[in-house]
Amino acid sequence: MDLTAPYLPDLESIPAGLDLPAEIRRLKAERNAVILGHYYQEPEIQDLADFVGDSLQLSQQAAKTDADVIAFCGVHFMAETAKILNPTKTVVIPDMDAGCSLADRCPADYFAEWLKQYPDHDVVSYINCSAGVKALSTVICTSSNAERVVNSLPKDRKLVFAPDRHLGKWVMKQTGREMVLFPGFCIVHEQFTAKRLAALKALHPEAKLIAHPECDATVSQLADFVGSTAALLNYVEKDRATAFIVATEAGILHQMRLRRPQAELIPAPADSGCNCSLCPYMKLNSLEKLYLCLRDLKPEIRLDESLRVLALKPLERMLALG
Ligand code: 13P
Ligand code: SF4
Repeated sequence: MDLTAPYLPDLESIPAGLDLPAEIRRLKAERNAVILGHYYQEPEIQDLADFVGDSLQLSQQAAKTDADVIAFCGVHFMAETAKILNPTKTVVIPDMDAGCSLADRCPADYFAEWLKQYPDHDVVSYINCSAGVKALSTVICTSSNAERVVNSLPKDRKLVFAPDRHLGKWVMKQTGREMVLFPGFCIVHEQFTAKRLAALKALHPEAKLIAHPECDATVSQLADFVGSTAALLNYVEKDRATAFIVATEAGILHQMRLRRPQAELIPAPADSGCNCSLCPYMKLNSLEKLYLCLRDLKPEIRLDESLRVLALKPLERMLALG
């Protein structure tokens, strides 16, 4: 059971003209808090965070922090993961409604029923899932280490991969392992299509197309490079191309610009006609809500202890693999 209470950020309680970055820094010191921020957060949040990273890097940071409070600027499953790893710490998230289409479309009770079709399978779950789904899993992975995690499982074991079918398909291709795929997807990455990206490539022949493995296989096939958020960032930093079409959430462009200020960075457009590729959940967090969550220590992630213990096991198995 999720013990998290409903909470609405009281934005009107913020005094007009308050220097939010200064107040956030003051509260952070006062509370011995650490601010962890995902690459998909707004630049102003990334710039204030003590650590900015992808899902794997953030869970590694959460596992080793000695802060008393973790203010997790990301989505719910990420903050929940931090709580699974740190039961005695206070874990807050600026907006409790910052969910994730992958996690939300794979409820634990439904997943438990679905899994009954595959009783003799090991279950590899992408970290983008609830504690309830983690508790039903053999091992967790992120997009950074999914290949390594799958390769760590004995070759004779049958595997289920959940909840992202695109990442699962990509990992099947990289590892040569057959897996049963849960039919989930990310609403942001699902919007990119090979047709629109091929047209964009034709307009920018000098640009390299780089894509996150949450994209459809037709997009991954077209891409010059496929990798997790951190891998895409490293690629832009090291590759000598002068232009990149970036097929992932556009928040990552902030760090890419800092590392390659001269490079042209073209956010991949969605196929809907809309040019944005922003995660509506990630963007629920704001500087105002970060200030409030450090001031009031709310909304706080809380978890049933027996569920936490079950979810911890597959997570620790992943962290041991690196
Ligand atoms: P990574 O942080 O593992 O690249 O995943 C991207 C993502 O969609 C996070 O929700
Ligand atoms: Fe979930 Fe996709 Fe948003 Fe990541 S970008 S949090 S996978 S909905």
